[in-house]
Amino acid sequence: MTVLFPFIVVAYLFLDVYALLQPQIFIPTHAWKASLNVDLSLDAWLQEEEKIALDNLLKNIAPGGSNCPDCVPGTVIASPSHAHPDYYYQWTRDAALTASTLVSFYSSDPHSYLSQHSLNPFLTAYTSLTSLLQSTPSLAGLGEPKFYVNATPYTLPWGRPQHDGPALRALTLISWIHALNMTYPERWAANRDTFSDIYKAEMPPRSPLKADLEYVAQYWNQQGFDLWEEVSGMHFFTAAVQARALKEGAKIAYVLGDPGAGDWYIQQAAEVDNMLLRFRDSSKGYIIETFDSDRSGLDCGVLLGAVHGTRADGSLPLPVFSDEVLATLLGLVKDMATRFPINAADDAADTDPLRGVGIGRYPEDGYDGYELVPGMGNPWFLCTSTVAQVLYLRAARAQSVGVVNVTDIGVPFWRALLRDDNLQSGAGFAAGETKFDTILARLKAVGDDFLAVVRKHTDEAGSLSEQFDREKGFERGARDLTWSYAAFLEAVWARKGLH
Ligand SMILES: *[C@@H]1O[C@H](CO)[C@@H](O)[C@H](O)[C@H]1NC(C)=O
Ligand SMILES: *[C@@H]1O[C@H](CO)[C@@H](O)[C@H](O)[C@H]1NC(C)=O
Repeated sequence: MTVLFPFIVVAYLFLDVYALLQPQIFIPTHAWKASLNVDLSLDAWLQEEEKIALDNLLKNIAPGGSNCPDCVPGTVIASPSHAHPDYYYQWTRDAALTASTLVSFYSSDPHSYLSQHSLNPFLTAYTSLTSLLQSTPSLAGLGEPKFYVNATPYTLPWGRPQHDGPALRALTLISWIHALNMTYPERWAANRDTFSDIYKAEMPPRSPLKADLEYVAQYWNQQGFDLWEEVSGMHFFTAAVQARALKEGAKIAYVLGDPGAGDWYIQQAAEVDNMLLRFRDSSKGYIIETFDSDRSGLDCGVLLGAVHGTRADGSLPLPVFSDEVLATLLGLVKDMATRFPINAADDAADTDPLRGVGIGRYPEDGYDGYELVPGMGNPWFLCTSTVAQVLYLRAARAQSVGVVNVTDIGVPFWRALLRDDNLQSGAGFAAGETKFDTILARLKAVGDDFLAVVRKHTDEAGSLSEQFDREKGFERGARDLTWSYAAFLEAVWARKGLH
């Protein structure tokens, strides 16, 4: 405490001064209204909703967001809802995923007005706030999942520790280093310490990225709560983002003159990779989310883990485009299709196993958006968007490698996709063949079918809450859920990545 105290004071002063120095951050306010006009094509609707989703997401961050006027700069609230349910907190996971989405936005056009006047100030503040939160004593140390918007830790009983938070935060800070380095190459050329407020080769670590990487390398093999904050154990989502953070963190460590740390992160990442393979359940035919669980193991967390754990070069033992992940996607979709009344087909003759439906977190979910009522879970916007995203990413992978090969575990998925029950393991389709084009078109069409479900349940203003009702389809749970917007935006970008 004596060591931390001066640092905390300095950090608070910094944040206060920083808040005062901020000019009124310009957040573009758009007059769009999501048209419920069914004649609007999906493309046209996505274009409108992308702008609304970004606007609404920016309202939930500080500085500048109108939904969090009392938030310390760098904060991301999970939702502006203060009661029924109260989500007016910064969760480490939701904040890191949202900040990561904003780094992508920044990178796509670093010199835009938005990037310079809104995203850069936010991401700079997010980096400082991360340091502050890491050095603030809390019940679970860096595994603390939830903070008040004034940057003090939540101290009531909660599912802690959660080990995915530091890994996700590390990934966001790594991508922020890359974004800054790409935008301002002269800074690195002039000064190799230019990123020392994010990563500095020193122990004990005081820079935020180094602190998170050390934590991940040290604690990945300890049990913690899952991304839904309900179950303690070892989880696919957590391990997938830990493996990626350690590998990308090692690269940064080598470049920043910390080779011993780089070696240690690589070594630990190899062990996490080995563990990841053990989430394949050969008797079930898909990847399970948690070891030794009573649940089926089907979980939207597996899809999210694959999305956020797969590196740009494709490396992860079970990458997002693997047949194992597609088999998991099919299992989840088939379960959800019959689970929620809202998912009944408009046309009873429609037997497409990959028909677009609302996707919940996992079959056994009983959280109805306000309280736990066994059997009364609902579809979630972020899970429905993520199914679309996985399908678009699979199509993009096929486009870049020019071939699709069907493995044993992928047979049910590819049969469902091609509506061909005779398809066998070992089948291959290469670019130039008609079937290959059919695969690409079908992956995109099925993805679009899931985004059409998101569209159907989006309210007139274009707002996305957490869930939509299993029977009536209206929005429920926390309103304007930041993660709903981030996941939607990521799906839309994955779709744009197709050519
Ligand atoms: C910054 O970019 C330069 C030029 O591409 C590269 O050599 C260097 O490794 C990068 N630095 C970091 C920390 O990634
Ligand atoms: C994948 O499919 C292609 C195209 O049919 C085929 O040429 C190739 O041998 C297959 N590769 C494997 C490993 O089965």
